Amino acid sequence: MTYAASADATPPATSAHEPPQEQYKLAEGRSAEIVSWKDGQVLKRYRPGFPRAAVDTEFRLARTAHAAGVPTPAAEAVIETEGRLAIVFERCEGPTLYELVRSGAQKPERMAQIFFELQRAVHRSAPAGLPRFEQRIAASIEAAADVSMEAARAALDILERIPLGERFCHGDFHPANVIVTARGPVVVDWLNAARGAAVFDFARTLLILRYARPGGIDRQTRRAFLEAYLHACDAAGVDQSLVAIARVPSILARLAEPIDPAEREALHALLAAAPAHGC
Ligand SMILES: Nc1ncnc2c1ncn2[C@@H]1O[C@H](COP(=O)(O)OP(=O)(O)OP(=O)(O)O)[C@@H](O)[C@H]1O
Ligand SMILES: [Mg+2]
Repeated sequence: MTYAASADATPPATSAHEPPQEQYKLAEGRSAEIVSWKDGQVLKRYRPGFPRAAVDTEFRLARTAHAAGVPTPAAEAVIETEGRLAIVFERCEGPTLYELVRSGAQKPERMAQIFFELQRAVHRSAPAGLPRFEQRIAASIEAAADVSMEAARAALDILERIPLGERFCHGDFHPANVIVTARGPVVVDWLNAARGAAVFDFARTLLILRYARPGGIDRQTRRAFLEAYLHACDAAGVDQSLVAIARVPSILARLAEPIDPAEREALHALLAAAPAHGC
């Protein structure tokens, strides 16, 4: 049995599923691989040991986003196949926005504008029943292993100073989580979605654009994308001084994740240089 619960229902237990005869891998992320499934569908098949609760959370949040009218693939069911948990998603045909920029197929400036507008479109929808972004960031700060108690305390203090927001934040908005289909760009990967101040969502995106190590993209293209994204933020009136304040808690939250050592080093260097009120 599968389930296709409403956005806020508690999912029932999952039972085993036979894979179709022909199955191939389309892409891979940190937590899962995306493989072909039945007609017009893919499986997001999680790595062994990935917690069931997190799969259920992603399913619920992906359905929430879809129900709110955000362009995103429909999440159809949680299943177990070949001993692994998986979500059945509607299949989206097309490269990621990251691939389009990296390959030079599209201009970084144009892609950055589309990327920013999509993030704003997510922020504008306000579905109910979401976890709070600030609470999630606080939990990550407390879980960050290689930061001092003082740094964690300072970040939690900054977190409290930022006015609470009610925006729908994706929580991991970066160009590899956007697929550019013939019908327009769609957002995937909703595990970290939450309700909160949009500045945290912008701050995290900026950290990823500046310091994450996706590989294979040249510095100039990357810089052009970042600058165009910043320009789009400015043009839309995003309060950059508030985004800068949100940066310290966002850095600590990012440090709680299994990131590349070079990114970790860069984030620690930023923290070391940060004034007490943010950087
Ligand atoms: N519905 C879909 N249809 C087609 N391709 C998809 C779909 N969902 C995801 N993908 C592809 O799979 C990749 C990884 O998906 P996703 O980001 O959900 O995995 P993840 O393991 O959570 O990623 P991360 O590394 O960001 O944690 C995406 O970048 C995209 O290329
Ligand atoms: Mg992803």
